[in-house]
Order: sequence, then structure tokens, then C-alpha cells
Amino acid sequence: MPSQTEFPYSLRPMDWDDLDQVAAIEREAFPTLWPPTNYRKEMRNRIAEHLVCVQEGEYLTVERKPGALGRLFRRNKPAPPPLRRRSVAGFLGVWHMADEAHIVSIAVREEKRRLGLGELLLIGAVELGMARGSQFVTLEARVSNEAAKALYLKYGFRETGVRKGYYSDNREDAVIMTTDALASGAYRALFERLRAAFEERYGAAVREYSP
Ligand SMILES: CC(C)(COP(=O)(O)OP(=O)(O)OC[C@H]1O[C@@H](n2cnc3c(N)ncnc32)[C@H](O)[C@@H]1OP(=O)(O)O)[C@@H](O)C(=O)NCCC(=O)NCCS
Repeated sequence: MPSQTEFPYSLRPMDWDDLDQVAAIEREAFPTLWPPTNYRKEMRNRIAEHLVCVQEGEYLTVERKPGALGRLFRRNKPAPPPLRRRSVAGFLGVWHMADEAHIVSIAVREEKRRLGLGELLLIGAVELGMARGSQFVTLEARVSNEAAKALYLKYGFRETGVRKGYYSDNREDAVIMTTDALASGAYRALFERLRAAFEERYGAAVREYSP
């Protein structure tokens, strides 16, 4: 029976106000990544698209620290009121390159894992790939990253190659994982089935964008 509930997370494009939270999630998920991703640059990258999942009704209060000029002009004035920002639970980065949608990053806050958010972000990646006319979705994962590999296998990714010593911190190999042709009837049917099963299990997630 279809779920009557709504998943309390929504998926939307990353915006500039999310970047501090996204950087913190990246540091937690990929502690050895150096240098960290420059998301300010990524936001201007024409081939990139980024999504975040945010929890409905959960906000962070962020103190605003004025810069040097702000301090100069605001002397003796009260501090600006804190900002209220929606709490980001996970994010996804996709590069659209030639005929592929390449997932360059996907991560969920540690405390929010195993709630379906990785799956929601991956559904978003496949939807973006389909909407942009990509032939397939692909990515690299550490050979030891069993959680991520299980997620991709569930969505019909297959191991299509290995990049030897790809990760510079420990020279670990990367496995390349790729979907079948997104336009094929078989992949569309699999994806529709998984998307419906997701909704039945967790409820419908709100999309604050149209792919
Ligand atoms: C990989 C990651 C994004 C998964 O996110 P998540 O929100 O915990 O995953 P979900 O709850 O949506 O799980 C979806 C599926 O992924 C697989 N999975 C997720 N975590 C798993 C785990 N710890 N062990 C085994 N399988 C796991 C399962 O197949 C699961 O489906 P199921 O619930 O039907 O068993 C998350 O573990 C993460 O952020 N890891 C650190 C960053 C990272 O490694 N990113 C991938 C780089 S390639």
C-alpha cells in the first residue's frame, strides 16, 4: 500500500547560503580529502549541478560576523541579527560531461545516515542525468567503500573498471561504477520501480526544483 506520509526531507539546488554546511559535511565524510572542494568555484562551474537535501522544519541559527569594512561602518551599532538557515543533511555534485552524468560527490551527515537520504540524492542524480540527455550515470568509489557500493548496486550501477591507486591519501584503487543506458527500457523500468519502492518505504520527498 502506498505510504500516506511525506518524507520530511526535500531536495533542492544547492545555494550560496548552504556552502558552510556543505563544506562541513564534506570534511566529516571525506576527512583525508585535500584540498577540500572549492564550492564557491563549483557553484560557477557551468558543467556542474548540485543538490542538497534539507530537513523540513529544522533550522540552524548562524551568527553573522561582519568583515573588516562592516566592522568599520557598524561601529557602535548593534550586531546584525542571526540568520536562520535550513539544515542541510546531505549533498550531491554532478558534472555533465559529454554523454555522461558524473557523480563527483555524494555525502550524508553521519547522524542522518541510513534514513534513505543517500538514496534520495542518488535518485536526484539519475533524474538530472535523464533530464539532461546523458547516456549513463557514472562515478568512482573506493574499493573499500561497501556502503556506497551497495547503494550504487541497488540502483543498477555495475563495476565497469578500476583506477589503480586513484586516491592520493593511501593509494587505494577506485572502482568505476556505471549505469546501463538511461534511455533503455530496462533501466527506466528498474529506476521507476526503485523510485516507487522508495516512496512506499519513506513517503514522497518534496522536490523544490524540476530536473
Ligand atoms: C554512501 C552514503 C551517501 C549512503 O547514504 P545513506 O543516507 O546512509 O544511505 P541510505 O540510507 O539512503 O541507504 C540506501 C542504500 O545504500 C546501501 N547502504 C547504505 N549504507 C550502508 C551500509 N552502512 N552498509 C551496507 N549498505 C549500505 C543499502 O543498499 C541501502 O539500501 P537499503 O536501505 O535498502 O539497505 C553515506 O554512507 C555517506 O555519506 N558516506 C560517506 C561519504 C561517501 O562515502 N560517499 C560516497 C563516495 S563514492
